[in-house]
Amino acid sequence: MAITLLGHPVAHDIQEKIRHRIEFLRKNTQRVPGLAVILVGENPASQAYVGMKKKACAAVGITSFEHLLPSTATEIELESLIHSLNQDPSVNGILLQLPLPKGLNEASLLQRISPDKDVDGFHPLHIGNLLLGLPSLKPCTPYGVCELLKYYNIPTQGKHVVVLGRSNIVGKPLAAMLIQREFNATVTICHSHTENLAEITQQGDILISAIGKPHFVTEDMVKDRAIVIDVGINRVPATPGPGFILVGDVDYDSVEPKVSAITPVPKGVGPMTIAMLMKNTLTAFEETL
Ligand code: GUN
Repeated sequence: MAITLLGHPVAHDIQEKIRHRIEFLRKNTQRVPGLAVILVGENPASQAYVGMKKKACAAVGITSFEHLLPSTATEIELESLIHSLNQDPSVNGILLQLPLPKGLNEASLLQRISPDKDVDGFHPLHIGNLLLGLPSLKPCTPYGVCELLKYYNIPTQGKHVVVLGRSNIVGKPLAAMLIQREFNATVTICHSHTENLAEITQQGDILISAIGKPHFVTEDMVKDRAIVIDVGINRVPATPGPGFILVGDVDYDSVEPKVSAITPVPKGVGPMTIAMLMKNTLTAFEETL
């Protein structure tokens, strides 16, 4: 039977350390970190994530500022909001929740966030530093995956890590992290145009899926005794209904018996993303002291 790599106890440990550090800093500086979250439109998954981020802020002692804008918000309005948050000394972190409604230029808006406050680590400056192995704020989901691997003592040195998905949020930064000397992994990134996909994924000592397709990774795609990390959080209609359930990219029931360890969905990578957001916000705050 595979080991279940639960994320929530790890995230809880990390958040406890952050809470203590913030309490210490509050006593010594009379200041606490602040995180501004911008949500445009009414995407239910994004609304749920923003709710979880707000709850985590309250648990660790970060002040959260919510900016909820209608889907009709213009790029100029968003630019002006980001500009004012960049100037606001009570805001140490700014998070623009993705995806944005159609018509808004994600890349250009993300670049408006001051790198000092870019707790998502999406700014080209951070991505560049990450690739160069220099200090940077790291994108929260891949950072969380790396911390999860470390916590469970999963060896990465010389191992073949196959990453499914090449997004700017997960796949690309994750590959950039795992090839650094800290991890020394050999990384292959696969995507929607990869030929002979199963042949490649079967070679992964560690297979990490971040493609957002429910039950995509099946038993025939994984190596015997592999470590499987499921980054997917897909909302699918519950059967029987009503409502939705969350499922990963991995067809858990068929894959679990074949592998040595696997993350569940939910309670796997998801809580780690939020813990790393708290960590980045604390880091950005400490830089201002
Ligand atoms: N949407 C899905 N994941 C993320 C994330 O890590 N950050 C932001 N800003 N939006 C997201």
